[in-house]
Amino acid sequence: MGRNYNVLIIGAGNIGAFFDTPSSLNILTHAHAFTSIKEFNLLGFVERDSERAKKASDLWNTTYFESLEKAFEKNRIDVVSLCVPDEYHYELLKKLSNFSIKLVFAEKPLAKNLKEAEEIISLYNKKNIKCLVNYSRRFVSEFANLKNSILSGAYGKFICGNGYYGKGTMHNGSHLIDFLRYIIGEIKETKAFNYDFDFYKDDASISAILKFKNGGNFTMNNIPCNNYTIFEIELLFEKTRIRIIDSGFKIEIHEVSDSSLFKGYRNLVKRSELNISLGNAMENAVINIYNSLSFGEKLKCTLEDGYRALEVCEKLKAGIKNE
Ligand SMILES: NC(=O)c1ccc[n+]([C@@H]2O[C@H](COP(=O)([O-])OP(=O)(O)OC[C@H]3O[C@@H](n4cnc5c(N)ncnc54)[C@H](O)[C@@H]3O)[C@@H](O)[C@H]2O)c1
Repeated sequence: MGRNYNVLIIGAGNIGAFFDTPSSLNILTHAHAFTSIKEFNLLGFVERDSERAKKASDLWNTTYFESLEKAFEKNRIDVVSLCVPDEYHYELLKKLSNFSIKLVFAEKPLAKNLKEAEEIISLYNKKNIKCLVNYSRRFVSEFANLKNSILSGAYGKFICGNGYYGKGTMHNGSHLIDFLRYIIGEIKETKAFNYDFDFYKDDASISAILKFKNGGNFTMNNIPCNNYTIFEIELLFEKTRIRIIDSGFKIEIHEVSDSSLFKGYRNLVKRSELNISLGNAMENAVINIYNSLSFGEKLKCTLEDGYRALEVCEKLKAGIKNE
């Protein structure tokens, strides 16, 4: 039986094509995810660097097109993965809305500002094009379980947390913001207190305190990326401490226990450690795309989620301007 959906990838860079190979254990590229699932047929790449386009199409046993128009000329394209740098997301998302497609799998951030994001949402709603935004932690079962445990009150009320990131508030900080929205809830207030243009000239990495609608706060700290790459989160609840370490590949769960040294005191003690299947996130996202197109499953990271993350980023940006 033929494959159900034809896929085009725009941008044959790291996340589009080169973070892994067909024999890699982890599925880290859009190309690997779509070629691993038999219901999808990877038609090819559109990439403005022709050498890279050729290398990617050789690696993934497909072809490449010299432009978007050429790709659509003779092909039915159902799904487009958008894997170009952040500054081109808006322009290409907008251009894609002129073609007859079913869904775009869009790399984060959705756009560079809220005005652009609003325009994209309105265009996609009008043209009935679905869009899944790749905030990858939403596609991992262990984080879904963590979210459910938090929601069920198993850890008690959220008190506070902190986390570390670098390389831009929009670029990487938005991962942190999206993840917090996902597991804790909406952010009602922000207070930026420090920033550093550690990678992008137009996207400072901002340190800030975030306050949540359901109570509790979180301090996001920027760690300039020339030191090292870090993406870690610690969350303190009434009964539990959760540490998400190793770039999100590991969770530690600490629970309250009577101190063995000091009578009457209660401390947090590490009770368990869990490996996170972040290496499956991309494949799970593509399965979500298949289930959404075929059976109407809800997309796990919507245009609205992409918009909300940007909204917090914009508030933070405004916060450093007003300093
Ligand atoms: N979700 C995640 O965890 C995650 C991880 C890494 C990267 N990303 C996102 O993916 C995007 C790409 O990142 P990357 O590291 O792969 O970048 P990259 O620079 O390695 O690749 C981008 C590619 O896009 C090509 N390109 C640029 N403009 C184009 C255009 N108009 N038409 C066709 N090709 C064009 C470039 O030539 C390059 O090959 C970024 O927006 C980044 O934020 C997301």
